[in-house]
Amino acid sequence: MSVTDAYGTTESQNSPKPTGPRRLATSIRDLTKEYVLKSETVRALRGVSFDVPEGDYVAIMGPSGSGKSTLLNMLGCLDKPTAGSLCLGDDDISKMTDDQLADIRSQRIGFVFQSYNLIQQLSVVENIQVPLYYQGKLGPKERQRAIELATRVGLGDRLDHRPNQLSGGQQQRVAIARSLVNDPFFVLADEPTGNLDSITTDEILAIFDQLNEEGRTIILVTHEDDVALRAKRIVRLKDGMLHTDEPVAESDREAMRERHARAVAELRARE
Ligand SMILES: Nc1ncnc2c1ncn2[C@@H]1O[C@H](COP(=O)(O)OP(=O)(O)OP(=O)(O)O)[C@@H](O)[C@H]1O
Ligand SMILES: [Mg+2]
Repeated sequence: MSVTDAYGTTESQNSPKPTGPRRLATSIRDLTKEYVLKSETVRALRGVSFDVPEGDYVAIMGPSGSGKSTLLNMLGCLDKPTAGSLCLGDDDISKMTDDQLADIRSQRIGFVFQSYNLIQQLSVVENIQVPLYYQGKLGPKERQRAIELATRVGLGDRLDHRPNQLSGGQQQRVAIARSLVNDPFFVLADEPTGNLDSITTDEILAIFDQLNEEGRTIILVTHEDDVALRAKRIVRLKDGMLHTDEPVAESDREAMRERHARAVAELRARE
């Protein structure tokens, strides 16, 4: 028998009872972002509010230009809001200086981009260590951690390869390992499977599933329903505003996982 908590999480009755609501990974309130150009002001976000509890897995969807990347960039401390508040845990990052944001970014955020953003001159292991390098940490312990993460994402036999010696899916796995090296507060991914074929997409989504099962909070932007249905919740933006915010039923997630697995098996059989 199972019970469902306020966030829709199903807990076995044998597991310890939660002592209160789950902590929030992030809390977004009336978030506004305006880009002032020469002849006009673009209102990319127009008062977006929602919370993400720790351990959640959120897909952000919406038409092109609806503000998805703008929102993710602010969560990732890559950009600052014009107005509103944005808390990571207990810290309001909307008022922080650029230096403070840079510290938070390198210490607490994992970011995965559609185009991988790896450094071509560096090997797989070195690319994974980049966020630690920015924190001045570059010893044998850090290298060992990078090797463990490379192995975890299935690249244990590619440690000294350069990005241009890897497939797109392998490059994205390096980017995921890099995003985990600072043991981040959450992993943010902007269309992480946008450049990948369906087999590789499934491999990447399986890694996200695993990370989330381990308790890691994931916020991912996607245009694809198939990808969004692997998340626990879908937030849709429209014209810079929150349009809908709906949970994904566990049965729908399971059905999508099975559908992907079947499609991959069929494609592999044809190879
Ligand atoms: N640096 C910028 N300067 C000016 N306008 C910008 C800037 N970045 C984004 N915008 C504008 O803000 C709006 C939201 O852009 P954003 O990149 O967040 O959309 P998106 O939902 O991620 O779209 P897509 O699905 O195409 O990636 C768009 O109208 C865009 O043109
Ligand atoms: Mg975008």
